[in-house]
Amino acid sequence: MTESTSALGKDLIGLEPLSKEQILTVMDTAELFKDVSERRIKKVPVLRGKTIVNLFFEASTRTRVSFEFAQKRLSADTVNVAAAGSSVAKGETLVDTARNLEAMRIDMVVMRHPASGAAKFLADRIPSNVINAGDGRHEHPTQGLLDMLTMRDHLGRIEGLKVCVVGDVLHSRVARSNFFGLLKLGAEVAVCGPKTLIPMRIEEMGVKVFPRVEEALEWADVINVLRLQLERMKGGFIPSLREYNRFFGVTRERLDAAGRDILILHPGPMNRGVEIDSDVADGPNQVILKQVTNGVAIRMAVLYLLAGGSPEKAHTVNEVAEA
Ligand code: CP
Repeated sequence: MTESTSALGKDLIGLEPLSKEQILTVMDTAELFKDVSERRIKKVPVLRGKTIVNLFFEASTRTRVSFEFAQKRLSADTVNVAAAGSSVAKGETLVDTARNLEAMRIDMVVMRHPASGAAKFLADRIPSNVINAGDGRHEHPTQGLLDMLTMRDHLGRIEGLKVCVVGDVLHSRVARSNFFGLLKLGAEVAVCGPKTLIPMRIEEMGVKVFPRVEEALEWADVINVLRLQLERMKGGFIPSLREYNRFFGVTRERLDAAGRDILILHPGPMNRGVEIDSDVADGPNQVILKQVTNGVAIRMAVLYLLAGGSPEKAHTVNEVAEA
């Protein structure tokens, strides 16, 4: 594989391998790209001539559409491939699929896959840049980045923030990307959820564990609420959804009892009335749709940097055109 000269290396597989400086570079570059989505003509010629394939082997609304908007706003040519309807459904392997796409001269692959490690596996075998759009329980790096950008937008910093991830941490790639990113940027990180849904020995990562959601809310400046990822559960991890809501649901009563403002994030999709009640999901402290808006800017920044764009030149999108 050829050595990459991009600020992020050849691929974006996770936040675990990135340095604090690389994470901040993506977030700072995203700040500069936010403006493009607010213009009447939402397009700059930064990735003109680049061809990107979005390879989605799992359901997605936010990540897939957000990557596609980011690519189109940077003027790349994009093709979407879903597992259903592709030759994967006929038994073709992941690498053969990617090699066939590369034979048509592509530059980047954005992939979501149900298997942990699938993005790295592919990245090690093809010369195109690979961006992990979520692989099994491993990582969802652009979600971690957009979560941190949203926290920084609203609270002015990441360092020293107390962030608690509440819910099904065991099956969550979003949680893992949050831990790696937040700890590198100096936040304090905690989790809260049923014992069966908290990974064993998570404390060894430097993460606190709150067994009761009331204690977590007393401690946290920010909570990132996760859904129960039922599609990844093989067996009964919780007695019932109603019981989960009763003991761990983020409700207006529990937030009021905490007695102070707590920023509420949720990566989506939400299950209202299970992990989060509607009056919290639509309430004054939530920034859930702001996360979605920031997702486009983060993905534009990742695409730009992986394509070899210079962080120093990103300060005006017109200069970005020459990168
Ligand atoms: N947050 C997230 O990954 O949402 P999607 O599954 O809709 O992409």
